[in-house]
Amino acid sequence: VGDIVVKPNIVLIGFMGTGKTSVGKYLAEITNRKFIDIDIEIEKKNNKKISEIFKLYGEKFFRNEEIKIVKEIYNKKNLIISTGGGIILNNKNIKYLKENGLIFLLNGSIETILMNLEKSSVNRPLLGNEKWERKVKKLLKERNDLYYNSADYVINIDNKTINKVADEVLKIY
Ligand code: S3P
Repeated sequence: VGDIVVKPNIVLIGFMGTGKTSVGKYLAEITNRKFIDIDIEIEKKNNKKISEIFKLYGEKFFRNEEIKIVKEIYNKKNLIISTGGGIILNNKNIKYLKENGLIFLLNGSIETILMNLEKSSVNRPLLGNEKWERKVKKLLKERNDLYYNSADYVINIDNKTINKVADEVLKIY
């Protein structure tokens, strides 16, 4: 039996529309590691879409579900973990995720984010019906420090393919 190298989890954080899920899936594929998307875990557990969970039970319930999943997975190893954009709102989440993981912030311009959100089929309850640009700017302003303070590494995603972003993560890792 050869050496078994246990490496920390790769944890992707960042705003909605920065490609956390796509990059995470791809990373899992090329590294042959297990992929966990916290939003998807919450949907499976509640048997409902995130948008329904927000509508039926509210944001507070959802944030609690996020913490529960983080606690369930934080001591596992060799994972690729994608988080929801609001994971940084609770510093306990970050504390747990850092215990066994390196945190990569996927960071893009407002233009890139809006473009990705337009293309996406995922319903983002926090964006609502307000003009997205305004809402995105407002949330980014509120959250930017939290993203940066939580990150071990920052990767810019502007004009990059999913493969390219994943390559950059692995180069650092
Ligand atoms: C949220 C981001 C979403 C999802 C929920 C709340 C946020 O995840 O967790 O709608 O607060 O930014 P994505 O970042 O995958 O869109």
